[in-house]
Amino acid sequence: MVELRPLGVSRAFTDGRNLYTENLTPGRDVYGERLVTLRGIEYRQWDPRRSKLAALLLKGWKILPLQRSSQVLYLGAASGTTVSHVSDIVLEGTVYAVEVSRRVFQKLLDLAEARHNVLPILADASKPDAYAGTVGRVDLVYQDIAQRDQVEILERNLRFLNPDGTVILIVKSRSIDVAREPAAVYRTVESALRKKGLHVLGTVPLDPFQRDHAAVIAEFSHS
Ligand SMILES: C[S@@+](CC[C@H](N)C(=O)[O-])C[C@H]1O[C@@H](n2cnc3c(N)ncnc32)[C@H](O)[C@@H]1O
Repeated sequence: MVELRPLGVSRAFTDGRNLYTENLTPGRDVYGERLVTLRGIEYRQWDPRRSKLAALLLKGWKILPLQRSSQVLYLGAASGTTVSHVSDIVLEGTVYAVEVSRRVFQKLLDLAEARHNVLPILADASKPDAYAGTVGRVDLVYQDIAQRDQVEILERNLRFLNPDGTVILIVKSRSIDVAREPAAVYRTVESALRKKGLHVLGTVPLDPFQRDHAAVIAEFSHS
């Protein structure tokens, strides 16, 4: 690696080809990613084949609403691959990481032990009352749960979003309809979000990093 340039997102960088975040826990990797030290600072390579958020950035979406102090509600945290990079970025913020599967939750707990800004929540995102007492107002709702009723689940979680906050919904077209063209599935999701009072800022297909997946970025409609 020759040089790193800021991405326009706090603590996230590129060398022109790969993405990196500044490691909050120097010396420790999370999922076998490469660690690189440059001028005394350690970075973790952010793999777009393991993290759809990295794929979104590499596909050219540059307006990521994440700052050092951002509050994030992350639905479908799994073992924390992407959560770990968000945690690197929002150094002084919080990542409320919701996951329903006990099988992967232990890994998320281990991750949170080393990262002060990750708050793991074992819960079903379709029943947000269970964590309403824990989660505060957030700047970003990021949802990656690969479920058929994902728009309804997202809608139930909009109560946590600041009026000027952002939604990133990861859509796996096969989870919604295996038979339809992914582009048609994405249009259906966009239209469902509009009906819920959201303004769609863009839909970015994540191929070739994540086949038949797209990120739909939205905010509250103020019109
Ligand atoms: C594709 S994986 C998420 C990968 C993760 N976002 C990442 O990039 O590291 C989807 C996860 O959503 C979880 N999930 C599915 N339905 C859920 C629900 N209703 N509430 C919370 N988590 C859910 C699954 O258990 C699974 O771990």
